[in-house]
Amino acid sequence: MRSLSHRIHTARPFNVTQPFRTSDARLIRNVLAFCFVIFGIVRSPLFVAAQPAPKTAEQRADALLKQMTVEEKIGQLNQAGGTYRRDMPNDEELVRKGLAGSVLWASDPGAINKLQRVAVEESRLHVPLLIGLDVIHGYHTIFPPPLAMSATWDPALVERVQTAAAREARAGGINWSFAPMVDIARDARWGRMVEGAGEDPYLGAAIAKAQVRGFQGPELGTPGHVLACVKHFAAYGAADGGRDYDSSYVPDDLLWNVYFPPFKAALDAGVGSLMSAYMDLNEVPATGNYWLLHDVLREDWKFRGFVVSDAEAIGSLVTHGYARNREDAAWLAIHAGVNMDMASYTYLQELPKLIQSGKVSVAALDELVRPLLVVKYKMGLFENPYADLSRLPGVLNDPATPKLAREAAQKSMVLLKNDNAMLPLDKSGNKYRSIAVIGPVADSGPAQVGFWGGMITGGADVVTVIQGIKEKVGSAIKVEYASGPSIQREIPSNFEFYPGVKLHAQKAQSPADAQAAFDTAVATAKRSDLAVMVLGEDALMAGEAASNGTLRLAGRQQELLQAVVATGKPVVLVLINGRPLNISWAAEHVAAILEAWEPGSQGGNAVADVLFGDANPGGKLTVTWPQSAGQEPLYYDHMLTHEPETKPDFGSRYQDLKSTPLYPFGYGLSYTNFAVSNLKVDKLKAKLGESVGVSVDVQNTGAIAGDEVVQLYVHQQSGSASRPVRQLKGFEKVGLAPGEKKRLHFTLGKDELTYWSSSEKKWVLEPAVFDVWAGEDSTGSLHGSFEVLP
Ligand code: NOJ
Repeated sequence: MRSLSHRIHTARPFNVTQPFRTSDARLIRNVLAFCFVIFGIVRSPLFVAAQPAPKTAEQRADALLKQMTVEEKIGQLNQAGGTYRRDMPNDEELVRKGLAGSVLWASDPGAINKLQRVAVEESRLHVPLLIGLDVIHGYHTIFPPPLAMSATWDPALVERVQTAAAREARAGGINWSFAPMVDIARDARWGRMVEGAGEDPYLGAAIAKAQVRGFQGPELGTPGHVLACVKHFAAYGAADGGRDYDSSYVPDDLLWNVYFPPFKAALDAGVGSLMSAYMDLNEVPATGNYWLLHDVLREDWKFRGFVVSDAEAIGSLVTHGYARNREDAAWLAIHAGVNMDMASYTYLQELPKLIQSGKVSVAALDELVRPLLVVKYKMGLFENPYADLSRLPGVLNDPATPKLAREAAQKSMVLLKNDNAMLPLDKSGNKYRSIAVIGPVADSGPAQVGFWGGMITGGADVVTVIQGIKEKVGSAIKVEYASGPSIQREIPSNFEFYPGVKLHAQKAQSPADAQAAFDTAVATAKRSDLAVMVLGEDALMAGEAASNGTLRLAGRQQELLQAVVATGKPVVLVLINGRPLNISWAAEHVAAILEAWEPGSQGGNAVADVLFGDANPGGKLTVTWPQSAGQEPLYYDHMLTHEPETKPDFGSRYQDLKSTPLYPFGYGLSYTNFAVSNLKVDKLKAKLGESVGVSVDVQNTGAIAGDEVVQLYVHQQSGSASRPVRQLKGFEKVGLAPGEKKRLHFTLGKDELTYWSSSEKKWVLEPAVFDVWAGEDSTGSLHGSFEVLP
């Protein structure tokens, strides 16, 4: 019999020089007809039905698992972190051997593609990598951080922002963001307050969901999106004394009612991964905490994604004094259900021993690896592992993204004080001929992009406040800038010295240079008509390992503010920072205060937009603003106690200080005024489980358009446990033209009225009388009530 190749070689080729013969034409026609018939059959429903169904991500993961050696499986559980673990084999070497399933902190798109190529083309099973980075509030374009974004009270905007961040990151080869960070934070001393959505679980849950939707898109694998990672499970924000990494002691009721809800919301929104926390929770380190990671997460909440430890957290189970040694640490984390080891290399080094000794079975190992592979399939990484570098410049230079960053920054700003309508400033030059812009963060890219923004970008490509103001007023007003003395942490950050980190502290000055800068700043104010003081924190002063013992303005800023105010010139204070600071003196002596947070790449433009009235601030605080650090932790939904602060003769819980905040949760002014009125509860008595409707009017009573956030608070008057004075259970942000009025409707259903009772040790919905308040912040007095009957 002739071979196929023989037949091919001997077949007469078409020769263009030969005339076309009818027999050839017939042959072509027949071949074409045959092709059409085959094509038709293949497309017919009959044929489709006969085809095997395409494999699900789970089936593909199972098939791949069957081909893997134990070593390769363990490799998938290892996230290589060569960027800062220089003592470990280089990332590329591990990837080539199939000993890393993910790489941490790779941010250069070219280098990422190179690593992916090694994984996909050179490793035995061609398994693509998860490339994880902290895209917390931007990748190239830096948006305001989550605390600021939560102050917009606008989940749709939050979603748009994280969609844009995901798009940029994905174009650069990042397929996994370690966000959203949803830790409830009630102590401004804790440096990481800036990374979360503030103190409230209800708002926190809404913001968490919006972020997950933004990062992941409608489903895992949506092009231009990334895998999200909700973190840090759980109660990291409750660190003792606000000291980062310190233990958290949180009773069950607060875990269920306060700290868990944003995590649950992220899960409900389909988050694909979760990060365990560093600290001890009630004396059990979160990363080896079986109750948290197994009972709550897997059993109760049925989480099907994967868990990654925080960086080096598995190894540090030994440091905690919890695990006997590294082998024990690996066992504890595996037993609790941590799938991936972020850069401690404990799994890689210790798991083979545990498998060999039978302490961890291969079946258990498979259970750990499977969700990781499933996610990689769902993300489409096997089909599409690379960053398309030809598209990258187009994505990074899309003008829509900075535009969105500017809008987000405008909307996140909170106007804390505005006596005699000092703001907005006149930009024509008729009122002020000259403005002094003063302060160490008035021209600081790093301060504006904050810790994570700075880690990735170093603070480059930022429109600073001074630039934004100059651009805004053009030649109409003379603008002079004086930084005053630079600011530094009292104790340097170890992050500054990590290889690969682009963030650096401001340069320290000699006392003489600092004094000269101080004097120049005061002189600049003296010769100007108005001073805009831009004070706050440098990037390394907020974020991880940046807790504050005091909340005072760093360096000589307070002294400088006082000296400038003493000149008698009108002063506006703009704050660039990641947490409430002690501004009690300013609140008394400065006419206008604008909280601009870390406003991101477009922050300078946005600050100028707000200062000069091209944008009307509508942000509202999502953390209670203390008068001083001694009041912390401070939050609005505390208990009534036997001596409620609302009693007419009540003084303070302190003898040397009022126990009320400087500014309450939910607070923020506008350049216009609003009135919330006419609260109606649709039934005075409701059956257990029945929903109650609440409606109110909100009207813009001022002369310009503006945004208002109407907030609904509830208090259960009695029950199996004391209930907080008020709890946020509804909010709506509305934009209103001057004079415009809208009626808003809220529903208080089972979800809003159920809580976890510490005496019943379960979720309860109880018959009781409920108070309802609606207003512009958490102190609103418009009141109604209803009764839930047994
Ligand atoms: C440690 C931080 O706690 C965590 O939030 C972050 O995602 C990892 N490092 C990776 O950068």
